[in-house]
Amino acid sequence: MSSVQTNRNGSAGSLPTIGILGAGKVGTVLARLLLGSGYRVLIAGSGAPSKIDLIIDVLVPGASTGTSAEVAAEADIVILALPLGKALPLAERDALPLDGLRGKLVIDAMNYWWEIDGVRDDLNDPTVATSELVQQLLSDSRVVKAFNHMGYHDLDEGPRQTGAPGRRGIGIAGDDDADLAAAATLVDAAGFDPVLVGTLHESFLLQPGSELFGANFPADEVRAAAARFPGTERALELTARRAENAGTVPADTVRV
Ligand SMILES: NC(=O)c1ccc[n+]([C@@H]2O[C@H](COP(=O)([O-])OP(=O)(O)OC[C@H]3O[C@@H](n4cnc5c(N)ncnc54)[C@H](OP(=O)(O)O)[C@@H]3O)[C@@H](O)[C@H]2O)c1
Repeated sequence: MSSVQTNRNGSAGSLPTIGILGAGKVGTVLARLLLGSGYRVLIAGSGAPSKIDLIIDVLVPGASTGTSAEVAAEADIVILALPLGKALPLAERDALPLDGLRGKLVIDAMNYWWEIDGVRDDLNDPTVATSELVQQLLSDSRVVKAFNHMGYHDLDEGPRQTGAPGRRGIGIAGDDDADLAAAATLVDAAGFDPVLVGTLHESFLLQPGSELFGANFPADEVRAAAARFPGTERALELTARRAENAGTVPADTVRV
């Protein structure tokens, strides 16, 4: 074991160890939900573990803290729950612990939010979903998008047992069936129905500006909203912006 500080929980049998980078609103809620399902959970903020030890002890008793490098190195699956602009900074490319993430499934729960991340054209590119940018950076990891579209209050208050009536759905997007299955297992363990909505490129439908962003719907409604996406104003806007970038304007494009 690395120098990750264990507060209470020890090993959790054969379940993978979950690392969470980001000890804010979403990171702590996901940590609590997964810990409650029996996972060993490690969590890091941007700095020294001592900066978050107290808050984790209060909000997620049983989780362990470490530096982001320690958490990434020790976890089997890592959830990114930090501001996207911090994960993909303009000035440097090593804000994430790339070595520790190598070869691992990385769940991207992040969104581009200009009020937090600043105005960043690179994170608002109609041709590349933000999770594709994360995958490009983490070229030696396997990225799946999940847990990004539901507000942290809804995540906190929404978990229900598998099969419970009205159980909420969480959209998942990715390119590899085994990784999608692993992400789906985590979503289910957190108390939500996993809904596969498309590839990483198609994960625009989970991003801000789409109907599913902010969604706190049962799974069948998540599925229906995903199916509606290609005909929505947002999808047409993306098509129009792509055509503009490419210097062509399709005849049937609705401009916004
Ligand atoms: N808020 C929501 O309802 C919600 C829902 C779904 C998804 N999301 C997405 O989840 C992400 C986090 O949102 P949030 O609301 O939880 O933000 P938050 O409350 O501001 O927490 C952000 C956390 O990320 C940490 N952090 C910053 N840079 C880091 C780094 N390089 N390595 C590790 N940790 C780092 C921060 O640590 P310091 O405090 O030390 O800087 C802080 O613990 C965002 O991308 C957001 O779009 C948010």
